[in-house]
Amino acid sequence: MPDPRPVAIPRSLRRDSIPAHVAVVMDGNGRWAAQRGLARTEGHGAGEKALVDVTYGAIALGVKTLTVYAFSTENWRRPIDEVRYLMNFNRGLLERNRDDLHDQGVRITFSGREDRRIPKRVLRDMRGAEELTLKNKVMTLNIAFNYGGRAEIVDAVRRLVKEKVPESKIDEKAIRRRLYHPELADPDLVIRTSGEYRISNFLLWEIAYSELVFSEVLWPDFRREDLFEAIEEFQRRERRFGGVDQ
Ligand code: IPE
Ligand code: IPE
Ligand code: MG
Repeated sequence: MPDPRPVAIPRSLRRDSIPAHVAVVMDGNGRWAAQRGLARTEGHGAGEKALVDVTYGAIALGVKTLTVYAFSTENWRRPIDEVRYLMNFNRGLLERNRDDLHDQGVRITFSGREDRRIPKRVLRDMRGAEELTLKNKVMTLNIAFNYGGRAEIVDAVRRLVKEKVPESKIDEKAIRRRLYHPELADPDLVIRTSGEYRISNFLLWEIAYSELVFSEVLWPDFRREDLFEAIEEFQRRERRFGGVDQ
């Protein structure tokens, strides 16, 4: 599906300071469904529209990387039926949107741990989407799937040990190079929807200096206008990175 809506970017949004990397904790699907007397899984299903709309909005603005939290290492604690639904749903979502994203020049990547609990066909389709879109340059859509910030750091440390890196060579750069996607810049902006004010193990290393914006909107209702609003909030912030303004 090509972009289904004309993009109306508000004039108050400054085009010269668009965050290069936006990361989103897509939260509130269960509550959205409960408000409508639906099963939680219906909320996940309704979240697809939000993801597609926000992705097109991000492309229109010139965002270079959009990372979305789709499944955390802790989400395995959910009822087995919901976990199974999420595995299949994410695979279907890829299948339904991969070609359009490819046409738009979007590179699809995944951040997360490979795990025997992830069905083989899901892993296969993830690899397929990565390969298909490998050379695309317009925007990277990085899907955090079976992702945990602590697991990512543990995996980086395991690699350091496996590669027998001497203690004197271990610095921030050495760790960063062993994260899942060292080529992606750190997020400038993290958005969490649904009025929850926490990080839930998302990108712990990478968000050291990210601006955090919290939205009350439940993820299935979130649209590009809400993204634009979050970016306007980002533009009102003053980033100091530990220094002082001169
Ligand atoms: C976010 O929505 C989606 C995933 C975590 C996969 P939730 O399912 O967490 O929805 P709430 O927070 O229960 O409303
Ligand atoms: C974070 O949301 C994970 C995803 C959005 C995929 P959760 O709903 O799992 O987080 P908690 O449990 O509220 O912290
Ligand atoms: Mg939640």
